Amino acid sequence: MGLKLGLKSKFSNPLCLGALSLSLSLHSSVTVLTFTVCVCAIMAMSDLSTPKTTSPFLPSSSQLRLSSKLHLSNQFRHLHLLPPPLHTTSISKISCSVSQNNQAPVAVQENGSVKTKKECYGVFCLTYDLKAEEETKSWKKMINIAVSGAAGMISNHLLFKLASGSVFGPDQPIALKLLGSERSIQALEGVAMELEDSLFPLLREVDIGTDPYEVFQDVDWALLIGAKPRGPGMERAALLDINGQIFAEQGKALNAVASPNVKVLVVGNPCNTNALICLKNAPNIPAKNFHALTRLDENRAKCQLALKAGVFYDKVSNMTIWGNHSTTQVPDFLNARINGRPVKEVITDHKWLEEGFTESVQKRGGLLIQKWGRSSAASTAVSIVDAIKSLVTPTPEGDWFSTGVYTNGNPYGIAEDLVFSMPCRSKGDGDYELVKDVEIDDYLRNRIAKSEAELLAEKKCVAHLTGDGIAFCDLGPVDTMLPGEIIIHGCKVDGPYAKLETHKRQ
Ligand code: LMR
Repeated sequence: MGLKLGLKSKFSNPLCLGALSLSLSLHSSVTVLTFTVCVCAIMAMSDLSTPKTTSPFLPSSSQLRLSSKLHLSNQFRHLHLLPPPLHTTSISKISCSVSQNNQAPVAVQENGSVKTKKECYGVFCLTYDLKAEEETKSWKKMINIAVSGAAGMISNHLLFKLASGSVFGPDQPIALKLLGSERSIQALEGVAMELEDSLFPLLREVDIGTDPYEVFQDVDWALLIGAKPRGPGMERAALLDINGQIFAEQGKALNAVASPNVKVLVVGNPCNTNALICLKNAPNIPAKNFHALTRLDENRAKCQLALKAGVFYDKVSNMTIWGNHSTTQVPDFLNARINGRPVKEVITDHKWLEEGFTESVQKRGGLLIQKWGRSSAASTAVSIVDAIKSLVTPTPEGDWFSTGVYTNGNPYGIAEDLVFSMPCRSKGDGDYELVKDVEIDDYLRNRIAKSEAELLAEKKCVAHLTGDGIAFCDLGPVDTMLPGEIIIHGCKVDGPYAKLETHKRQ
């Protein structure tokens, strides 16, 4: 029903009506009509899948106070990606806070005269006596965590794990700084309400906003999830440019206002190149602090090996994903282990390892979209949790994890100045070291080179955003895809647009 209504309204769009009638009058070919319907339907799905508000302004509420006005220039900047204005203004923002202190807040004042902050959200307006529980609890200093795309599906899974204490630990109070777009601001408010209703003891502050220069203030972690998915007919180069501008702006904002040692995890695709753009725009933050999420691919690879070997997946270790989070990524079965033994000893079907296994990991995201009707969200959130935990807890002896990191100084001869997934270890201090002695055979070397070439080509496309001169984009005849992309009727489709594929098959 929803789909029908959406299609009807989009077909009423003069552009689509024009295109449809042109197709009908000029071509009797079914293919042309199908393609036009496909594009229009995808546009309709876009409308259906994206929450919109008629006004970017929040309604007044007893629980909600706005700190400032919304400026037209800001609307344009977020919706149309114009360069950011000078950051003297603030945007619609809900600030939910207690003061940052070495001790987490505990109890409201007994006489009922609860102090409130001027800008705050609901229960987070309460000012607590930070000393009250000092004697019974030993809390760490509160950390600030920014999440972009905070009203999206991935974040909806992630935020509640962060707030529960299962990521940073049961003695780590956190503040969540939620970044969204103008049109998602009401959804962000809904997220804040659900966080409020969850009564998480460790969640001490929730801020929502649309300006990265405000939201990223003093953040210790930045989880950059929000990005535009590639739409129908959109070239990969265009996606690189559109999302690249978002990550250039967010890099600048982090550089200006975040903690100087902020750890940045880029999830929005194409995440490796977005991470490169982000770090190039944040010269004051160590390049080593930037990561592109390939942990989802590592988890997928472990699952496939466990399935084939008939073991539980915790028996699979030393799993490296090399390269780009795309269909050129290389899941390394040469160095991975099952029950401590080389995979090739346990799984003797080497043809399956080279072809079936590798492809199943590379294209897992696409298969999932076909089944689910949308791209991965819960497993992506879990893999973000895993990626963070790998940095804040010591890596088990002899094991490693995969993450996309800056290549300068790498021991594998990968071109410098890229963000490339490689095997890493951590002492649990938020930092990592590359594992240096991983064996690379000819098979791996050739595959890794292909992913490296793809990243070098992507980098050329975004030279204007990394300070490397004029962009030259030639991604070659084989336009490699993100793991979640599929092709229908000649339209490359990903993310929510892929719902159409599901509907078509019913
Ligand atoms: C995934 O690997 O599931 C996602 O990166 C797919 C996508 O393109 O959203």
